[in-house]
Amino acid sequence: TTPSGTQELVLPYAADMHVHLRQGDLMRMVTKLVRPGGVDTVYVMPNLQPPITTTEQALAYRDQLQALEPNVTYLMSLYLSPDLTPEEIRKAAQAGVVGVKSYPRGVTTNSDAGIESYETYYPVFQAMEEVGMVLNLHGEVPSDRDNGICVLNAEKVFLKHLKKLHQAFPRLRIILEHATTQDAVEMVKSLGDTVGCTITVHHLELIVDDWAGFHHNFCKPVAKYPHDREALRAVIKAGHPRFFLGSDSAPHPRSAKENVHSCAGVFTSPLVLPYLATLLESFGALDRLQGFACEFGRAFYGLPLPAPSAPTVRLQRMPVAKLSEMEELPFLVPQSFSFAKDESDAQPSASSEVVPFLAGRTLTWRIVE
Ligand code: NCD
Ligand code: DOR
Ligand code: ZN
Ligand code: ZN
Repeated sequence: TTPSGTQELVLPYAADMHVHLRQGDLMRMVTKLVRPGGVDTVYVMPNLQPPITTTEQALAYRDQLQALEPNVTYLMSLYLSPDLTPEEIRKAAQAGVVGVKSYPRGVTTNSDAGIESYETYYPVFQAMEEVGMVLNLHGEVPSDRDNGICVLNAEKVFLKHLKKLHQAFPRLRIILEHATTQDAVEMVKSLGDTVGCTITVHHLELIVDDWAGFHHNFCKPVAKYPHDREALRAVIKAGHPRFFLGSDSAPHPRSAKENVHSCAGVFTSPLVLPYLATLLESFGALDRLQGFACEFGRAFYGLPLPAPSAPTVRLQRMPVAKLSEMEELPFLVPQSFSFAKDESDAQPSASSEVVPFLAGRTLTWRIVE
């Protein structure tokens, strides 16, 4: 609390261990909004068009991002595919690429046993374990309605693969990305210290009802039941060090969200710390913000923790007063962010703007200079 009675919180810049920074005009906008969200270290997803499958591509992408915003540390990843070789893994590690992201299609069908299996990738995982790379799992099996698998149980059904992988490669660091269920939280807790878990901002707020019919809250994995959201909140409230921030901030143009087939993804980068402070405070875990957002992810990835002299982010709480009595505007989330090429010709259009999470809503915390 400052002399004027305003509540403030000073933190090191956060590390967001799962972001989509895209390409082209969208990349140029999104990359510049990372630091304003209170983040200076990001783990960058490789699902571009075409996906990043080689060391050269990863380094070229990093160069582009660095040119746009040099004051962010970009941790790069490769996209798992059958073409990825142990040789490429060693080359990538040498060049500073940090990990490999596995998407559901990476779970190949083992026709013998009729089960999905990662075994075709074991030589790659072996090499990753040897060189200390991280494996990031999109923890959902593909939907298979004839066998009872849909978006609501796709994560739960996946968890046996996580367990098996950890048993096969106990020294390989594995991260279950964007966990959404109580089952996932319990599974990760039950495994060893080499298994971590990212939690997004939006899954701390949303349940099924919030995306069914509401495209801007639709993401993969989908938000689940109230008791699942409670489990995510509880593990943060407990300060468990293997659960940390990975926002999965995934911008899509408004036209791609507000479509018959809506693209999955929620855009949170520009306000990550204000969202988190607001949400964590709402469930009594504000004292865990620094560990969750700034420390645990860095520690799991083997990065140094921010030095005491490192730059900080100052968060300010909205004064406790009726909105009508407030002298300043409330802390509103913008309705949209434009990525039009030339801002002067800018009629904002659905194909050149991105709607952020909780657009138009009031947050309790904001970042101040
Ligand atoms: C697209 C782009 O390049 O702008 N990025 C991507 O596909 N990775 C836009 C988008 O995804 O919506
Ligand atoms: O919601 C999501 N959006 N989930 C993913 O796995 C991918 C991401 C994206 O790239 O849009
Ligand atoms: Zn994913
Ligand atoms: Zn993602």
